[in-house]
Amino acid sequence: MMKIKENYSLLAHNTFGLDVKTRWFAEYESEEDLARFVSDTFFRSQQSCPVGQGSNLLFLDDFIGIIVHSAIRNVSVLKEDADWVYIQSGAGVVWDHLVAYCVQNGWGGIENLSLIPGEVGAAAVQNIGAYGSEIQDAIVEVHAFSLEKNQKVIFHRSECEFGYRESFFKKEPNKGRFYVTYVVFRFSKHPNFNLEYGNLKEVLHGKTITLQSVREAVIAIRQHKLPDPKLMGNAGSFFKNPYLCIAHLQGLRKAYPDMPFYPVNDEVVKVPAAWLIDQCGMKGATVGGAAIFERQPLVIVNKGGATGNDIAQLAEKVKTAVKQKFGVELRPEVNYI
Ligand code: EPU
Repeated sequence: MMKIKENYSLLAHNTFGLDVKTRWFAEYESEEDLARFVSDTFFRSQQSCPVGQGSNLLFLDDFIGIIVHSAIRNVSVLKEDADWVYIQSGAGVVWDHLVAYCVQNGWGGIENLSLIPGEVGAAAVQNIGAYGSEIQDAIVEVHAFSLEKNQKVIFHRSECEFGYRESFFKKEPNKGRFYVTYVVFRFSKHPNFNLEYGNLKEVLHGKTITLQSVREAVIAIRQHKLPDPKLMGNAGSFFKNPYLCIAHLQGLRKAYPDMPFYPVNDEVVKVPAAWLIDQCGMKGATVGGAAIFERQPLVIVNKGGATGNDIAQLAEKVKTAVKQKFGVELRPEVNYI
């Protein structure tokens, strides 16, 4: 059954905690519901937008159209052997519930992605990543309904065009034209732990390395560094870490020898946007109710009463400051609606 609400508050569907409304809010519980709904002239005559928990969305205003949300929440084991288990998860499953379920069952692959806000479908679209892992490493297939073809399409991982916080589903002209219904994952029964990123090893020092202890360490680091969206609205990293060519990096390191960077390949490095923003002295900067978070300046928080425009204006200030000081263009990880 399709659930449709009119003039619906999106407070529960954006982690910035913005009190914006949508003209229509529609929720589907099955692929059949979705197929019927999107074929209807009521749907086809309006603008529409798929959302999960809205942990990467910035609503600049009320939405005059239909916001569509997946309530497909079943998780099932498709097949397994001695080494691997294949799991199909509904797009509406809370991401961290899936991580907890895998850790409890001894299945490795997504434990480093513990506590990332959001739901499974949006997590795949966004190719979420943290502590040296990305969701794409565990994805086998993404099942999505295509508005163009008016039918379900199964994308093998190789067709999803995954990149750093990127996928086929986010790119123009595909953006907003595919509704993810299920994601199929492959998890390992003999986990290969990935503890190389940041201070993960340090936090685990002296502890037995298990899926559970890694999950707990990631949760502890995130809780220390990142604001809890339930307490202070935010969407995690607001910008992506920019890629620079080696020549640009070398030029900058003459002036800023401490500038951190991570090699991507022989020609390109990734630079922490948090460092660039920090160097611009922007920690604590505000516009209206929006502020740069002190402990992690890549995060913009709603201190209370911020509007979407406060957040967008503050982001613009950050972009301008970083561009002026370093000649580096920051690009948002957050999607503007
Ligand atoms: N830094 C500063 N000042 C600060 C904080 C950080 O200069 O106040 C610099 C330091 O050099 C630090 C570096 O920024 O080493 C990197 O910081 P951190 O390890 O927190 O990671 P990040 O690059 O800022 C990325 C992801 C996060 C993910 C972490 C851990 C992006 C855009 N962000 O952040 O993802 O949790 O690594 O893997 O890639 C998200 O996407 O929403 C998100 C939170």
